[in-house]
Amino acid sequence: MAEADTTLSAQPMFEPPRHVAIIMDGNGRWAAARGLPRAEGHRRGVEALRRTVRAAGELGIQYLTIFSFSTENWSRPASEVGELMALLRRFVRNDLAELHANNVRVRIIGEREGLSSDIGRLLEEAEGLTRVNTGLTLIVAFNYGARQEIARAIKRLNDAVTKGEVDATTIDADTVSRFLDAPDVPDPDLIVRTSGEQRLSNFLLWQSAYSEFVFLPIHWPDFDRAALETAILEYRRRERRFGGLVAQTGS
Ligand code: IPE
Ligand code: IPE
Ligand code: MG
Repeated sequence: MAEADTTLSAQPMFEPPRHVAIIMDGNGRWAAARGLPRAEGHRRGVEALRRTVRAAGELGIQYLTIFSFSTENWSRPASEVGELMALLRRFVRNDLAELHANNVRVRIIGEREGLSSDIGRLLEEAEGLTRVNTGLTLIVAFNYGARQEIARAIKRLNDAVTKGEVDATTIDADTVSRFLDAPDVPDPDLIVRTSGEQRLSNFLLWQSAYSEFVFLPIHWPDFDRAALETAILEYRRRERRFGGLVAQTGS
């Protein structure tokens, strides 16, 4: 007899969360545990990212946001920052064509000002090439900090008020949402963080108001489809109430 398929997508009525966001943490500790340089952990982290994008598409997730470089990560040694920038360049150069072929739409959130011009161009190229794709939307949080994003939103909103496009007396939470970096993207249903840390580290503070959080003990380079399915299964056990009394299980 054939073995039963126990994978998540084989379950009846499987409906994945629409938007999963991941804090990809623990590359350095993964490497240190193996006596390897931190850079090797980051390289293996890119491989985990490839697996995850593929798995997210296969599982029918519509939006996948990944935290790849935070505003605060500039405080790391220049050599490590340089390695992370080099990895981003390589990722776009090596993987963009395949992402495009797989109908993935790439979006970038974060501060573009102050990035080196070649990185800025690569990010624009990734967004431009994949703009009309209709499969998974991959949102890369790069040079991203949530407080900085909210500050940018306030500036843009202020410009709109000055131009007479928005009446300041009508500003509410939805208005603010419309001025964030990716205003059309729904809030994340599920936020996953690897490496055991239980904090947001300035990620999606506004958008996570009603997200479910799953913290996994594994380091990011070990992340794969099975880990993503574990996080989704945990999410499906949660009851989402959104402040009301009617429980909605994660779906
Ligand atoms: C995540 O791994 C990658 C980035 C933050 C860019 P870390 O580099 O934070 O690895 P740890 O947390 O030091 O193990
Ligand atoms: C968060 O991880 C940023 C990314 C995953 C890109 P960090 O490793 O920078 O977070 P802290 O410093 O442990 O809070
Ligand atoms: Mg870390």
